Amino acid sequence: MSKKRESWGSNVGFLLAAIGSAVGLGNIWAFPYKMGRAGGAVYLIIYLILAVLVGVPMMVSELAIGRKTGLGVVGAYHKLSRRFGWIGWLAVLSPLLILGFYTVLGGYCIEYMCLNLANLGFDRHAATGQELFAGMLTNQFGALMFTFLYLILGYLIIKGGIKGGIERFNRVGMPALAIMLVVVIVRSLTLPGAVEGLKFMFLPGYAVSHGYIAENPGFISVLATAGGQMFFSLSLAMGIMVTYGSYLHADEDLLKNSVVVVAADTIVALMAGLAVLPAAIATYGTQAKLNGPSLLFVTLQDVFNTMGAVGPLFGAVFYLLVLVAAVSSSIALTEVLVTFLMDHANLRGKVGDRRKISLWVSAIVLVLATIVSIDGLGSNGLWVPLKEQLSYVQEGVVRYVPFTETWLDFLDCLSEGLMMPLGALLLSFMVSWEIKPETVLHEVGTPMQAAWVQRAYRVCMRVIVPAVMVLVLMGQISDFFGLKWF
Ligand code: PFF
Repeated sequence: MSKKRESWGSNVGFLLAAIGSAVGLGNIWAFPYKMGRAGGAVYLIIYLILAVLVGVPMMVSELAIGRKTGLGVVGAYHKLSRRFGWIGWLAVLSPLLILGFYTVLGGYCIEYMCLNLANLGFDRHAATGQELFAGMLTNQFGALMFTFLYLILGYLIIKGGIKGGIERFNRVGMPALAIMLVVVIVRSLTLPGAVEGLKFMFLPGYAVSHGYIAENPGFISVLATAGGQMFFSLSLAMGIMVTYGSYLHADEDLLKNSVVVVAADTIVALMAGLAVLPAAIATYGTQAKLNGPSLLFVTLQDVFNTMGAVGPLFGAVFYLLVLVAAVSSSIALTEVLVTFLMDHANLRGKVGDRRKISLWVSAIVLVLATIVSIDGLGSNGLWVPLKEQLSYVQEGVVRYVPFTETWLDFLDCLSEGLMMPLGALLLSFMVSWEIKPETVLHEVGTPMQAAWVQRAYRVCMRVIVPAVMVLVLMGQISDFFGLKWF
């Protein structure tokens, strides 16, 4: 017996959930630094052009495929395509791998939020950011417990369903995130020396001329970085938009929705930059670590430590903000797997039990997350697959490239590095040459009726998206494997 599929309560609810999936750690710890390092305002313009020419068409395509088939990612691709149906499997595997480390990072946010809450009202800081972080990574049991707590939080939301769980969480979470972000921005921008952070972020060439980085990256490398950041940040090629689209009503405007999600994600990334970089640079100048886990868990914790009695308050608000951003992304990733299994049960004439399925998915994620958590970003000497496997000979010397130094690197390399760009490339081939752009255009309907819009969509899917995805793939391979193409 099959059951009527759920749907979003409203278009705004869907939008907030889609924005929630897009806004995540990538916006806070990667975008601002990449922007500063790769040319400031120039990078921003390149990013925006790519977001319009690659991000929007990809998002429209994914939403249309989901809504047309009314199925999660595996079912949707199989239903539409004979040759490319298997890419649905890529799009369920990569969310699982990403969840393996996203969950652990989410657990770290809970731990830091608790640390700051415990110090509320006091001007005390028993340890520096570096000491706290090192202590957290090597306390395997503690980190695992916080990872577990984060997973339970996700489970409680996911089991509530599309409308009663995901939509409900994002309806509160997204506006709250925006308010907290504004609070932190005001604090950050009013610190003495904050303007230096703004210059780093917006002025082309400033990062090099003021000693933050050694040299400007080349144009192709900037394109590849911006492209990679753009599609990770927009949660593309991960089955999320197909999955979320499959719960959308037939009369919603897919084009407008895609533009709103892309715009909101970019605005939040810029706001995150205003929240973190001025504070980090005002306090530590060129010594500040401005990217990745070190930015969040070392530099910024040190910034809060220097703020006196109000420091823990801003710290608690900030880590709660990052936690909300992470949770709204990881519930989207989890929903890809849950929807796939629910559909699978449905297609076999059974009624999928969402609670049970969510529990199973969480249990599988826990296995991966346990390994990542115990590894503690490589602090605990755990064996890591493919560690220093790549070697090459330069000037007669054999060199090893340590491309997966930690379990987080390994999972990230497989998912973000290889599967996501490959999945996006194949999706553009599938739409362009097998199911044809008309399938998507027909599903979107009136908003894409104008001849020039249709022509633009075809050019984007047939030429621009594949070209950018090849560049991104090369860029990711060069980042992860240390190969220099450009
Ligand atoms: N978009 C999220 C971020 O910027 O952190 C991360 C992410 C979530 C990537 C979901 C991919 C994804 F499918």
